[in-house]
Amino acid sequence: MNLGYNKNMSKKPLISTRNLRKSYGRRSAAFEALKGINLDIYEGESVAIIGKSGSGKSTLMHLLALLDKPTEGTIKLEGKNTSQFRQHKLNDIRNKKFGFVFQSFFMNSNDTVLNNVILPLKIAGVGFRERRRRALEALRVVDLADKAKNKANDLSGGQKQRVCIARAIVNDPKVIFADEPTGNLDSGTGARIIKLLFGLNERKGITLIIVTHDQDLANMCDRQIHIADGEVVEEGIKQELYDENFDGDNDNDGMREKNTIKRIDVEED
Ligand SMILES: Nc1ncnc2c1ncn2[C@@H]1O[C@H](COP(=O)(O)OP(=O)(O)O)[C@@H](O)[C@H]1O
Ligand SMILES: [Mg+2]
Repeated sequence: MNLGYNKNMSKKPLISTRNLRKSYGRRSAAFEALKGINLDIYEGESVAIIGKSGSGKSTLMHLLALLDKPTEGTIKLEGKNTSQFRQHKLNDIRNKKFGFVFQSFFMNSNDTVLNNVILPLKIAGVGFRERRRRALEALRVVDLADKAKNKANDLSGGQKQRVCIARAIVNDPKVIFADEPTGNLDSGTGARIIKLLFGLNERKGITLIIVTHDQDLANMCDRQIHIADGEVVEEGIKQELYDENFDGDNDNDGMREKNTIKRIDVEED
């Protein structure tokens, strides 16, 4: 039984994983970074994957984003088993359905801000004028239209992160994957990035999957998935969502705290 509340409980999960395992290295040197992860992520949710450094957050994020393949287990996207997807299809999904805000996904720093944002549209085969129009629009969303012609290299860390967000949203994705989106930023700039991401979630219904070790950021998400040593150790939902959906008849004070954390059993299939 799944006790977890989701904004779209009636819907089928957008992404679901069963017994997801990932090992690095071989035989005696093998290291199990993920040890059987079961997750359901629904459309329109904001989900935090939280845990200490080395717990497996980025590994999980890369698998969910279909950037890497699991050693064992399944990842379904909209009900379809992704292990059968061919490279072309994977590329297409990553290009059109997913947006990435990863620190490791550096921009081409010698190219202009505009060209960096245009790139996914170019890959998707969008025509010259249309891709220019849409890239400028995305830059307006992150308040950087005036930097369109600058070299990406000349921007500050926070501005570069906003360019990454512009590039992530330019194809109107269903899901944005953000790995430590505020990692290297000062708190003011970090707050701005967060506001942007949650604004996209609220206004456009874009599903947010955010990897973080920052509890304050995790608390802003509808749901938190805590990872330790490659396993889900706890899941929790936002108190407001809990109140809306389980009103009144629960006497357990422990469940009444902000950002209730409780164990959730995910249905096996
Ligand atoms: N390519 C790799 N080869 C070997 N070990 C790796 C590789 N990537 C990650 N690991 C190991 O897997 C564990 C989880 O890493 P990671 O998912 O990056 O954690 P997190 O993002 O939570 O800090 C760590 O112990 C890390 O050293
Ligand atoms: Mg990481």
